[in-house]
Amino acid sequence: MSKIEIRNHPKFFNVFISGPKGKLKLYTRNLDKGNRFYGEKLVLYKGIEYREWDPYRSKLAALLLERPISNFLSEDINCLYLGASSGTTVSHLSDIAKSGVIYSVEFAERSIRQLIQNTSRRKNIIPILDDARYPQNYAKSIFSSIDLIYQDVSQPNQAEIALTNCNYYLKENGLLIIAIKSQSIDSIQKSEVVYAQEKKVLEKAGYNILESINIHKYAANHIVLIVKRK
Ligand SMILES: C[S@@+](CC[C@H](N)C(=O)[O-])C[C@H]1O[C@@H](n2cnc3c(N)ncnc32)[C@H](O)[C@@H]1O
Repeated sequence: MSKIEIRNHPKFFNVFISGPKGKLKLYTRNLDKGNRFYGEKLVLYKGIEYREWDPYRSKLAALLLERPISNFLSEDINCLYLGASSGTTVSHLSDIAKSGVIYSVEFAERSIRQLIQNTSRRKNIIPILDDARYPQNYAKSIFSSIDLIYQDVSQPNQAEIALTNCNYYLKENGLLIIAIKSQSIDSIQKSEVVYAQEKKVLEKAGYNILESINIHKYAANHIVLIVKRK
């Protein structure tokens, strides 16, 4: 544990920062005291334990550091997370949404096993071993309306997968956040062309791209879109 001064993020609820502007570090308050999730640094400040949130490991952290206009985090947010992997980003969402639920869909057995082991002491994560392409399959595991769908699946038809899930689960004024890796969609085309194609799919289906944020600094060939139904 090191001595670092932690303060509230000026915008995002339950997100904390340290350091000067331009060199900010992000943190969340550790719901599972004393335990690390992915080798992240633990910081004790004024009797509270925080976990450093690594933007090179989590595209959501990268997005926050790129200062989006939209504000989408709250203590009671219910989130459908597609592509949970072993739960790096899910664990920080779990710290933030203390009275919400993070429904965490992942189809790789090995990853979800790790997710379950790591999150057994966290009450607001529901791991779902399933394929995000077939949202009807996990309807029985989802028992609240969904405020936010967060998708990070690195699949060729990412926008379509996101839309199918939105049609099933996203509430009227809910938001979709989608991390798009151009290389997973088309490794030959220029990234900008691939991003434009995916945006077109979303817009054609009646969604507005509120923000398109380049996170290349932290994750090569990635943008993050913040999307809302028209
Ligand atoms: C880039 S990783 C996600 C990292 C994670 N979002 C994080 O920040 O901790 C992508 C994950 O999506 C999963 N995935 C890919 N296609 C999927 C699908 N159709 N259904 C469910 N999971 C999928 C992969 O197995 C992989 O674990």
